[in-house]
Amino acid sequence: MSKSSSIRKAILPVAGLGTRFLPATKAMPKEMLAVVDKPVIQYIVEEVVASGIEEIIFVTALGKRAIEDHFDRNFELEYRLEQKKKEKELGALKQIGKMARFAFVRQQKPLGDGDAILAALPFIDQHEPVAVVFGDAITRSRKPGLAQLIDVYNRYQDPVVGVTAVSKKDISNYGVIDGHKLDGAAYEIHGFVEKPSPSEAPSNLAVMGEYIVTPDVLTLLKKQKPGKDGELRLANALIAHLKAGRALYGCAVEGEWFDCGSKLGFLQAQIAFGLAHPETGKALHKHLRSLRAS
Ligand code: UTP
Repeated sequence: MSKSSSIRKAILPVAGLGTRFLPATKAMPKEMLAVVDKPVIQYIVEEVVASGIEEIIFVTALGKRAIEDHFDRNFELEYRLEQKKKEKELGALKQIGKMARFAFVRQQKPLGDGDAILAALPFIDQHEPVAVVFGDAITRSRKPGLAQLIDVYNRYQDPVVGVTAVSKKDISNYGVIDGHKLDGAAYEIHGFVEKPSPSEAPSNLAVMGEYIVTPDVLTLLKKQKPGKDGELRLANALIAHLKAGRALYGCAVEGEWFDCGSKLGFLQAQIAFGLAHPETGKALHKHLRSLRAS
């Protein structure tokens, strides 16, 4: 396969425990929490598909069955909607399963995002670069977020990390890049600092959980040893890639980013998408104004 071929597959690791959302995630995957009327994972799949991805490999775990069901057909429900002549709802429902080719693979134990990615490798050609998108953030942008990463990949042909600007006070919640700006949205990355204090942060660019990963990074991931917590992380393979003197690029994604893995980010997403929704926008706007006035 030539180096310039575009990205056709995406790995979506959704096997995490979602401890920050307990007890909501005790019996329900955090990726299925709804923002207005769609689960977080559907927004992510829509972004991935709008970026040209044809095949999505979900890495799931025990208790994540609802994600598989969501992207499968539900004949019983379709039949009921047909009977009730709910054409619009029926069309939207049928569309979900047709967005891409979906494959599901299980991660046996929650041993980190890196371990989850390795579980998906039987679905990936060994010479194929692949997108990796974590299951807990939504991007709202003119050009789909992942498509912006693919543009940077097409330019440099090396792995790409999606980053977003966050405020100084929030920076210590994220992994942050150290790097220098190139043309347009691209950065050359020199290193990462995990959850830095505002004074130690090398930039205001936080890692979003979207990547283009090349076969050499996957080879490094296979060689990684688990950290003290027993988990394998993609970030460590990227650090090993840098240490080997290889190039790594950042893409500062244009658009709004909602970290739905955190309570505040999830609430901010509800408000932003609620205000934009044709059924709720006007009334929510009025309600928020009335709160400000009181
Ligand atoms: P997070 O670090 O957000 O972990 O994972 P988490 O378990 O989902 O959530 P918290 O921190 O406990 O609240 C980042 C991404 O990697 C996946 C998650 O599903 C998420 O999409 N992941 C994480 C796995 O697939 N397997 C793992 O073992 C860990």
